[in-house]
Amino acid sequence: MLIFCGLRVSLPLSLPIPWMLLLLFGLFCQLSVAYKPVVLIHGILADKGCMNVVAERIKQLHPGTVVYATDRFTGWSSLAPMWHQVDALAADLLNISKAHPEGVHLVGYSQGGLVSRAILEKYPEHNVQTFISLSSPQAGQYGTKFLHLYFPNLWLKTAFEIFYSDVGQYTSVANYWNDPHHQKLYYKYSVFLPYANNEKASNQSAIYKQGFRKLKKLVLIGGPDDEVITPWQSSHFGYYNENETVIDMKDQDIYKQDMFGLKTLDESGRIQIITQAGIDHFSWHINLSVIDKHIIPHLD
Ligand SMILES: *[C@@H]1O[C@H](CO)[C@@H](O)[C@H](O)[C@H]1NC(C)=O
Ligand SMILES: *[C@@H]1O[C@H](CO)[C@@H](O)[C@H](O)[C@H]1NC(C)=O
Ligand SMILES: *[C@@H]1O[C@H](CO)[C@@H](O)[C@H](O)[C@H]1NC(C)=O
Ligand SMILES: *[C@@H]1O[C@H](CO)[C@@H](O)[C@H](O)[C@H]1NC(C)=O
Repeated sequence: MLIFCGLRVSLPLSLPIPWMLLLLFGLFCQLSVAYKPVVLIHGILADKGCMNVVAERIKQLHPGTVVYATDRFTGWSSLAPMWHQVDALAADLLNISKAHPEGVHLVGYSQGGLVSRAILEKYPEHNVQTFISLSSPQAGQYGTKFLHLYFPNLWLKTAFEIFYSDVGQYTSVANYWNDPHHQKLYYKYSVFLPYANNEKASNQSAIYKQGFRKLKKLVLIGGPDDEVITPWQSSHFGYYNENETVIDMKDQDIYKQDMFGLKTLDESGRIQIITQAGIDHFSWHINLSVIDKHIIPHLD
């Protein structure tokens, strides 16, 4: 594409090329470098600044791209209930969508990737083309490593007692806390993930499926050295069974029964699963080789 433009620039002026042709070339260049806008949603206890490296890299390698990074739900407010974040961020995304009828791309990092997925489901009027889920607990989380920083007394085996309660559910983490040993309580109390997965039917189920199935491409990025997302395969919709054996996405009920559209997307070749070793959770969004190799190529 850029070579095309370079060609136009390097054409000797003395060549008798009709100016109409030049105009056409110009038009072609404009069309070919018109990258779709990219919306970035940051992770937990973070802010818009955390997405600066990605934002700058996109603009550098895809000049002219408009990049939006949300500054909602920064710091502690990122612990707000998931549906609340979904509704507020969706309002922004839909506003951006409206301004760009050609479509936009969405990149969600960590918790932001799960918020993003739920936005796509709940607001089927979105025009997101490619959604990149960057190390996000899409199938839930059962690991307190990162929580120890902020909840020093929280232990893996007893966290469910706090999270699986009406009050506990006022925290984002509790909304996707998926304890494989307390599934009954998870389904009883969790107000977010079982609904987003359509495991619990609601009058929104059909809408969720419609919104998700609209995607042109779903890119799921994760890796074994993440050390925060637990199990790390949750970033690929894999998850623990009752014995803490990880079951792959394709063997999960949510996939087999196509509860919200994963199977539809996969069977039509719209899911790309990327496993990258050697990256810890806090590096995905700042490691240039990850960004160049796994993110930028999907943003056309
Ligand atoms: C919606 O987008 C327009 C630009 O298209 C912007 O001026 C306005 O501030 C946005 N509104 C909200 C609520 O984000
Ligand atoms: C869906 O159900 C909720 C309560 O569970 C209700 O508040 C809402 O109005 C319903 N929406 C539709 C479209 O029926
Ligand atoms: C879990 O392990 C127990 C004991 O080894 C076994 O009986 C059970 O079938 C296993 N469950 C699954 C789902 O693998
Ligand atoms: C970025 O990730 C690659 C693996 O893809 C790794 O080899 C490299 O050391 C990382 N760079 C930095 C600065 O951590």
